[in-house]
Amino acid sequence: MDKIVIEGGVPLRGTVAASGAKNAALPVVAAALLADGDHVVRNVPDLADVRTLGRLLAHMGCAVERGADALAVRVPGDVKPEAPYDLVRTMRASVLVLGPLLARWGRARVSLPGGCAIGARPIDQHLKGLEALGAEIRLEHGYVEARVPGGRLSGATFTFDKETVTGTENVMMAAALADGRTVLENCAREPEVGDLAAALARMGARIEGAGTHEIRVDGVASLRPLDHRVIPDRIEAGTFLVAGALPGNDVAVTGCVPSHLEALAEKLRAAGASVTRTADGLRAAGRGRPRPVDVKTAPFPGFPTDMQAQMMVLLSLASGTSKVTETVFENRFMHVLELQRLGADISVDGRVALVRGVAGLSGAPVMASDLRASAALLLAGLAASGTTEVRRVYHLDRGYEHIERKLAPLGARIRRERA
Ligand code: EPU
Repeated sequence: MDKIVIEGGVPLRGTVAASGAKNAALPVVAAALLADGDHVVRNVPDLADVRTLGRLLAHMGCAVERGADALAVRVPGDVKPEAPYDLVRTMRASVLVLGPLLARWGRARVSLPGGCAIGARPIDQHLKGLEALGAEIRLEHGYVEARVPGGRLSGATFTFDKETVTGTENVMMAAALADGRTVLENCAREPEVGDLAAALARMGARIEGAGTHEIRVDGVASLRPLDHRVIPDRIEAGTFLVAGALPGNDVAVTGCVPSHLEALAEKLRAAGASVTRTADGLRAAGRGRPRPVDVKTAPFPGFPTDMQAQMMVLLSLASGTSKVTETVFENRFMHVLELQRLGADISVDGRVALVRGVAGLSGAPVMASDLRASAALLLAGLAASGTTEVRRVYHLDRGYEHIERKLAPLGARIRRERA
């Protein structure tokens, strides 16, 4: 298993480009199932999660080919509408095939994803939304067994009990081919939902309101293959901006969308960093020791849960105590124990972490527990004096494209080693 070795305490300066968004690419690639033919999805990051989805589509009978930055998907007239446990287990987003399979072929068998390191993560809202459109769903032997009597879903009004990103995406995709109008309420407003709606519109879907709490879909009888360029990855960009905001650093991220990063930029500024717009992105520079700032995660446009761990690294070096509240996932403080190994002073009580800033961190071997926790450990290693070894980097590889190759030109002393 690979590990990443960092010699920390070296200033980071320079420019880094944002990759395409993992969490936009996954639903857009799944949306290809909605139409037969040759699809092209551009700006797709080369990541383990994208490869897993490619394997899943291949398992169903699609031909998937990776080009320089695009994924070509050929969807045949008939597929095996099944997502087996082994593929769903390694990537929960595999559940995104459920809506398209039901809409297109009227049946699907998708493994239940189960829990993961950051919490229980149920899919009840996905299933309720699809049931509202007429699907019959049974849970059997760990699988969602779903079928549509009569073969075609019907438009309906459905209110999500809870804002869910992939749940909104799954039901919106299903509604695109349903008979009649669907109105979805309490939808997630994340930019990735808007990007999927834009991709579906290019396929001929009729969707309004993506990016607001109410999405209206007028179902069409069929869709055409898609050709779509996914948006930049705001979480990858945000991770580089936190790196720039660390004391002594100055990092510009090109190709990111500033309006997707406002909540983070505001907190970085409150912590004393300078965050400015550039011609094609954002630049963050750390000015001395960060100030303490309270942070509470929330669905978009709030502070993203996917940036909570990285922000905590900056706050662990602040000149006072910050309160970090996680409201989206119940168990997303797995990085705290590892940050403590690097000298951070953090205590957790339920969903609240109190981060008492320390003057410096010191390198140590640490273990990654999930994707964003790994990114936080990498940032902490870059800020710490001495050597940090981050183990279990397969978590990092699920969501960050060649991160060591992107950080090295900024001055980071970082390398990957085969353990
Ligand atoms: N929830 C339910 N029932 C459902 C669905 C969700 O109770 O049917 C709950 C979840 O347990 C959670 C909350 O609703 O407490 C929000 O979860 P959401 O469904 O929005 O999360 P997701 O769609 O599974 C996506 C991202 C995550 C990101 C979250 C929150 C993708 C592929 N994944 O997950 O990204 O943290 O939204 O923004 O889009 C990551 O990239 O590292 C990552 C975990």
